[in-house]
Amino acid sequence: MHRDEAKLRAYFADAPTDISLASIDQQRLPSHISIIMDGNGRWAQARHMDRAQGHKAGVESLREIITSCVRLGIEVLSAYAFSTENWQRPQHEVNLLMQLFAKTLIQELPLFEEENVRLVFLGDLTALPQKTRQTFELGLARTCHNTGMMLALAVNYGARAELTRAAKLIARDVQNESLSLDDINEDCVATHLYTADLPDPELLVRTSGELRLSNYLLWQLAYTEFYVTDTFWPDFDRWELLRAIQSFQQRHRRFGKVGV
Ligand code: FPP
Repeated sequence: MHRDEAKLRAYFADAPTDISLASIDQQRLPSHISIIMDGNGRWAQARHMDRAQGHKAGVESLREIITSCVRLGIEVLSAYAFSTENWQRPQHEVNLLMQLFAKTLIQELPLFEEENVRLVFLGDLTALPQKTRQTFELGLARTCHNTGMMLALAVNYGARAELTRAAKLIARDVQNESLSLDDINEDCVATHLYTADLPDPELLVRTSGELRLSNYLLWQLAYTEFYVTDTFWPDFDRWELLRAIQSFQQRHRRFGKVGV
């Protein structure tokens, strides 16, 4: 992945005392970083603000982390923005999030174009309000020829729904005889998931201290390293990202085998 060394150093200048660009090994960066962005509401509550302010601040964090990953030359960044269960939030918050997603997409398109970011979505977009879906489709069309970092936003995503959908797609292929039972293996399942074109995440970050997966990428996270921080998503910045990468680089990954 191409990266601009001068821009990288400039972006990570003014480091705090405990972490800097020099603290991480540039040759062993995770190819795919995935993030469960959590804690916008609690961040706002702690400041006596309404939850909407927390989500707006969350968008600022997302922009900083997208830029950080582009600067570092990360191949894929994915982020959980809205789950299949999030529809059960109060209607006004759901509406607010859908409007915020549309607004954010339009606002960030110049960044994606300038930084050569290719946008993809994980999840069922057909259930989204028309305006949100249209802006997402515009984002897809405007970035589909970009060759830089892939940004995968999980919206109306649930891993159980994704696996159920994959089972149906495979069953349909068997039924119309384009696939035989013997062709069903792990690769076949993987290619029927929303993430068919993405490598599995190497590092999963969850903010706000929660120790659960919340129906996120259940198949794809089989051998992913987890990093959980108490920091709320709106406070998660480029230095927090470096801390997560540093922790990842200290792990001994064995993939079920015996370590050497
Ligand atoms: C979790 O906080 C965060 C969200 C539900 C939304 C995150 C979305 C963004 C930052 C923007 C994404 C942009 C696009 C274009 C898709 P929470 O409300 O669960 O926080 P809480 O657990 O403290 O209540």
